[in-house]
Amino acid sequence: MSPHLLSVDTLSRDYIDHLLHVAKRMEPIAQRRKITRVLEGAVLGNLFFEASTRTRISFNAAFCRLGGTVCDTTGFTFSSMAKGESLYDTSRVIGGYVDAIVMRHPDQGSVAEFASATNVPVINGGDGPGEHPSQALLDFYTINKEFTRLGKPLAGAHILMTGDLKYGRTVHSLIKLLARYEPMHITLVAPPGLEMPVELIELVASHGHRIEQRDSLDESFEPIDVVYATRIQKERFTDEMLESVSGFTPTFNVGRHFLNSRCTPQTIVMHPLPRDSRPGANDLNVDLNGDPRLAIFRQTDNGIPVRMAIFATLLGVDHLIEKDMRDVGWKTPTRVGVDDADF
Ligand code: NCD
Repeated sequence: MSPHLLSVDTLSRDYIDHLLHVAKRMEPIAQRRKITRVLEGAVLGNLFFEASTRTRISFNAAFCRLGGTVCDTTGFTFSSMAKGESLYDTSRVIGGYVDAIVMRHPDQGSVAEFASATNVPVINGGDGPGEHPSQALLDFYTINKEFTRLGKPLAGAHILMTGDLKYGRTVHSLIKLLARYEPMHITLVAPPGLEMPVELIELVASHGHRIEQRDSLDESFEPIDVVYATRIQKERFTDEMLESVSGFTPTFNVGRHFLNSRCTPQTIVMHPLPRDSRPGANDLNVDLNGDPRLAIFRQTDNGIPVRMAIFATLLGVDHLIEKDMRDVGWKTPTRVGVDDADF
């Protein structure tokens, strides 16, 4: 198996199932009840050439919680790429300094090109509109965890993905990952011009899933188990698109009104975040804050155990995690967010 995590395409179902199991074992550490030091002495290189809050910080925190330390760089301005250095040279250089690398870059395929120059494990933290495999793994972990809580099977689930399905790399990786599992009903709702790429729809359909495509949320739907909303990726639009594609109309607003009129009390709402909360953005509405169906912060919390599991499996310490587990010595809040749901 390749030492890298570049695309969902290269993940076997056995690996995914094992990873979810390892992530579950990481929960006591992620919840700050236990400590482990299995990566003591290891160093991560976190290279982010595109905006990021949760991916960069959660990869960083996940590595630290395994006992490792992190070096990072953000943006092109302060890196040698601004002096014309190639991905190949940067990769070989950084590979000589660290034990694992996470990279985010605006160009599709760039992280794979970078990874081809090193045997040190490279994780794709997002390559332009391409893929974001660790996000898909944490999204899938979240769906499984929420379904277990709700007593629902994955087979036959109705998953509605909405927003910018053309440039949203998280939905590209997630739909490929879901395609590997038992047949589901997947409804894709995108503004005209921002539909899911045809090759991905064909791939999912070829695995026996039922796919529906719509261009508005203002319609009736069969009972929905998961609403997965995404942000319009305006930064990836061509000049032509900036003129012709208007973004979200108010009918794309996933908020209390949509949930109460089109969903059930057991629907969960996910979003990779960030949500655009500026007036007129019509992204996932803040009026859902405090609603237990809003799973977005449980989803971001899951980023830690899943990313810890990714490091532990890629670096071969997944069998050692419990060996030196200890209780934490400091005080932690029982609930992280003031609006966190009570189950
Ligand atoms: C997303 C990304 O960068 O692809 N965020 C994330 O990593 N959780 C989604 C986005 O930017 O809209």
